[in-house]
Amino acid sequence: MESNNNPFFSVILVAILLTLVCITNANPEIYHEFTVQEKTVTRLCKSHKIITVNGQFPGPTLDVRNGDAVTVKVTNKARYNVTIHWHGLRMMQNPWADGPEFVTQCPIRPGGSYTYRFVIQDQEGTLWWHAHSRWIRATVYGALVIRPKLGVSYPFPKPKLELPIVLGEWWNRDIISVLQQALFSGAAPNISDALTINGQPGDLLKCSKQGTIRYSVNPGDSILLRVINAALNQQLFFTVANHKLTVVATDAVYTKPFTTNVIMVGPGQTTDVLLTADQKPGRYYMAARAYATAQNAPFDNTTTTAILEYKSATSQPILPPLPAFNDTNTVTAFSNQLKSPGKVDVPTKIDESLLFVVGFGFFNCSPGPRCQGPNNTRFGASMNNVSFVLPSTVSLLQAYTNKVPNVYTTDFPPTPPVKFDYTGNVPRGLWQPVRGTKLYNLKFGDNVQIVLQDTSIFSTEDHPVHLHGYHFYVVGQGFGNFNPSSDPARFNLIDPPQRNTIDVPVGGWAAIRFVADNPGVWLMHCHIDTHLAWGFAMAFIVGNGVGPSQTLLPAPVDLPPC
Ligand code: C2O
Repeated sequence: MESNNNPFFSVILVAILLTLVCITNANPEIYHEFTVQEKTVTRLCKSHKIITVNGQFPGPTLDVRNGDAVTVKVTNKARYNVTIHWHGLRMMQNPWADGPEFVTQCPIRPGGSYTYRFVIQDQEGTLWWHAHSRWIRATVYGALVIRPKLGVSYPFPKPKLELPIVLGEWWNRDIISVLQQALFSGAAPNISDALTINGQPGDLLKCSKQGTIRYSVNPGDSILLRVINAALNQQLFFTVANHKLTVVATDAVYTKPFTTNVIMVGPGQTTDVLLTADQKPGRYYMAARAYATAQNAPFDNTTTTAILEYKSATSQPILPPLPAFNDTNTVTAFSNQLKSPGKVDVPTKIDESLLFVVGFGFFNCSPGPRCQGPNNTRFGASMNNVSFVLPSTVSLLQAYTNKVPNVYTTDFPPTPPVKFDYTGNVPRGLWQPVRGTKLYNLKFGDNVQIVLQDTSIFSTEDHPVHLHGYHFYVVGQGFGNFNPSSDPARFNLIDPPQRNTIDVPVGGWAAIRFVADNPGVWLMHCHIDTHLAWGFAMAFIVGNGVGPSQTLLPAPVDLPPC
């Protein structure tokens, strides 16, 4: 065969190769369109209309790389207001793309649209996106997978398979009517009718066998399970029959690997686990069910399953044991093993030392249809006795940047206004919080410590507390009341894990630390949507630092009108 020595062709060839190298190395613009729309879906033998993204339930997985510039145009073709939140993305200087309704934007009205534009900066792992407008997120959610930059590998051997395992909750009723009923009556909302894995209740629930999710594997395959708790109101245990799970990341931050039979994931949290298909070829259930700690509170006690099946295996799937619903010992043993892979840079000189007492509360009311909580009350929840009220005519971020008066105050208390035995027998006189839209100012660069302290008002409960726009180090956790003179001595300031959502131990406390390096208005709240609706929230205003890289970006022109 004649070789081609034509210099013209060589130049062209080199040019093509260079272009290819450039194209594959540069982070391309990622563009998606999310159409929020109704869709009729059948689960548990019943059909009803749910809100979806692009008619998919769960919604589409957003698959991106660290460094990508992402654009998602959201068009609202449903009959409810909607926003989308990119849970766990830091959104540096860019709260405009964060999404919580009336915090960083007004909702996208039916017929409207808004384009979220953001850059993934120094994050990799598993996050998720969800609606952040009333309870629309019950069905409007999906996985957000951030792969390392091209040429960068995982800190573990590349798995053969990667599976997003999105855990959720299913109601037979329209979710907005469930919420409206609870907000009208003041009572607790109906519990869900089933838990789900990737939208399916699985084999153990009626009319659900057909839809059960099945993952087919070859013997010896290594599999990365990206487990996401997208449930509205429920902490969940997750396990796989006969297989060990090696935890490698939480909330899109790598951890020191450790092996366990079961994990606990709070709403909002993610856990990446590696599994090797090293068992007798067969069929094995993955299963999730509730971790529920509130006393005498009803919860969804169903078990959702999916099947891990070795190719050509046909045996009856094996069901794994799951911890008891209130097995706090298993949760503590699990969370105590979470550590950063090595030494990390934890803030030690603290500028803002905050104590937030969190939990339930009750509003007294005159007996009647709107007073159906325990003993003639309406259910509430609070942080430092403030039951948070969202504005309804403008977002907090716009009120802040445009200096709109009378929307919020900045007197959120740094410590509880009244000190009491938080986890003891709390006098009834301390059960009623105060409604308000109170924010707390942080200076750019502040080293912040927050101790989140549960109370026994009504009942102790573990609460998954999420901070928008940040990752924080979990430096300590314990039961009972936080003791400021003895507990800090036991803080892990060497290799604490980093998260965006901390499940504060039931009847206990958690201490977190972060540097206030992201200017804007950032919501902090319980990721149990019932508690959020009752007022378990507050927000920080983080001021600008020096120069353009520490300053809030200007508002996008298409920000939805208020
Ligand atoms: Cu996952 Cu404020 O949200």
